[in-house]
Amino acid sequence: MKPFRIVVGIVLLLVIGAQFVPRAPENRAAATAGSFAERFHPPAAVLQVLTAACFDCHSNNTRYPWYARLQPVNAFLARHIKKGKKKLNFDEVAQYGLRKQRTQFNGIINALSDGTMPLPSYRMIHGTLNAGEKQVLIRYFTDLKDRIGKKTGISQPAG
Ligand code: HEC
Repeated sequence: MKPFRIVVGIVLLLVIGAQFVPRAPENRAAATAGSFAERFHPPAAVLQVLTAACFDCHSNNTRYPWYARLQPVNAFLARHIKKGKKKLNFDEVAQYGLRKQRTQFNGIINALSDGTMPLPSYRMIHGTLNAGEKQVLIRYFTDLKDRIGKKTGISQPAG
């Protein structure tokens, strides 16, 4: 057998074998009350960019592509979602105290200005945010961070 065929054979076996690795449970919770949108009522343009570029890893609901069922893609995505949600979950941020909310909004502004988010692997598939989309988010979160907690701004949940 030619070495090339042996390599192809091994790769195929690995890919087939990987399918026996159990898939991670899907990140799909029932819509929660107090989601980011419900609490802060962002303009449609903001919500659209967040939904398209951030919620897949930073909320309780991921839109899965068909190939997410395949290993090792499944494990790869599950890892990003788990790590992403740990750092920032748009379905939970409304329940945090003011200080933590500000820290999170600052983190978002930084991640966008530095261009670290969305993750490079995600940008490869879904495309990059253009300068306008980035600006829309940065302006919105800068303004939101200043508004929260102020009398004229958005009130805090009781307790
Ligand atoms: C493909 C999944 C994915 C997408 C899409 C994504 N993120 Fe992330 N994000 C992550 C992961 C994973 C981490 C944790 C990185 C780490 O721990 O090194 C993270 C971390 C962060 C952090 C915390 C940074 C820090 O170090 O404290 C912020 C803020 C953030 N993301 C904002 C965003 C925003 C805003 C978007 C949309 C424009 C976005 N992310 C899109 C996966 C993603």
